[in-house]
Amino acid sequence: MQTEVLRIIEGGLMSDKRKILAYSARLADRLEREGDIALSKCIRQKIEEGMPQNAAIADAMRVLPLDADSRLQIVEVIPTDEERHKVVLTPEVDKKVSEFIEIVNHRSELELAGVEIKKTLLLYGRPGCGKTSVAHYISEKTGLPLIVARLDGIVSSLLGSTAKNLRRIFDYARSVPCILFLDEFDAIAKARDDQHELGELKRVINSLLQNIDSMSPETVMIAATNHAELLDNAIWRRFVQTVEIGLPGKNEIMEMLDIFSEPFSSEVSTDLSKKSAFAKLAEGISPSDLKTIFDRAKVKCVLGNSKKISMGDILDGVYEVKVQDKSERAYVHFLNEYGMSQIAINKSTGIGLRKIKTYLATNEMEEAK
Ligand SMILES: Nc1ncnc2c1ncn2[C@@H]1O[C@H](COP(=O)(O)OP(=O)(O)O)[C@@H](O)[C@H]1O
Ligand SMILES: [Mg+2]
Repeated sequence: MQTEVLRIIEGGLMSDKRKILAYSARLADRLEREGDIALSKCIRQKIEEGMPQNAAIADAMRVLPLDADSRLQIVEVIPTDEERHKVVLTPEVDKKVSEFIEIVNHRSELELAGVEIKKTLLLYGRPGCGKTSVAHYISEKTGLPLIVARLDGIVSSLLGSTAKNLRRIFDYARSVPCILFLDEFDAIAKARDDQHELGELKRVINSLLQNIDSMSPETVMIAATNHAELLDNAIWRRFVQTVEIGLPGKNEIMEMLDIFSEPFSSEVSTDLSKKSAFAKLAEGISPSDLKTIFDRAKVKCVLGNSKKISMGDILDGVYEVKVQDKSERAYVHFLNEYGMSQIAINKSTGIGLRKIKTYLATNEMEEAK
């Protein structure tokens, strides 16, 4: 509650009506949750009274920042109540993410105690492992909406207006309770290889750094990138927390199998030894690819009027993504590695038993050499 009160006072001193209204609404929500219905109602009434005379400001709260030339929106607001998939993280990553959530959730106590800590988090790692999902998860756990600014879109054409757009985005994030989420953060650094003039780009990077530096302490910012190696040291230093989100381990894959199977059942989610064997096989596949494999198998389920995901469909999906060699022999070896018996392979693929035996025997001979 202290946070909201402090922000309302700041809004008043700076004559920032948008800020006052936004944080008063938040205060009313919080009081209602905590059972102080009378005060909450009273605040809501004040907000309503304040709105009509100031329709322009009420509008401004709804109007998002636009690109000056194209008039396109440069941010997207994702409310916190959106239903999301559960994100599965390794224990080390989970610990770091939870720490960040704790800091954000206790920001007013920290501020009152005089502890100044910037709430800036950089998520990096290969695509499809959950960076964007983690940002949504943090939004859910902190109750702060995400203001998503995709830098690839912002940097796309005119660097001249990039600096202006950055300013508008940071100004907007300052005036409403939110998490500013800069996705595809490397776009700024990447523009260096493009046709843009180096000096112009330097100015944009400087403007980004200035915006970050002049952020008020209460602003929560998360950035995500697939190309951490492209980021300047100066940018790295601006982030108090940096977390690499890499490929999941076997335990995480096992957990994902249950989530991705829902609402259907599958052999891999009901039989523990099969689940474990499958998780080993799926190591090295990104969660995003794994999800696609399950989604495709589910489509077949629905079209085939079945309630159970076919193991064969899932194995085919993994084989498609993971194994380069697409020969029949490689396929038989792949299924055998997963633990399927020769008879089971014969049944599921229709390949003759003798052929299967020969394929598997050649490998044993090669290994024996
Ligand atoms: N760690 C994870 N746990 C559960 N699902 C995941 C995870 N990582 C990715 N996914 C799935 O893959 C999709 C794409 O992941 P995303 O978060 O966009 O990855 P990134 O931003 O790192 O490229 C998500 O919508 C989610 O369904
Ligand atoms: Mg992403």
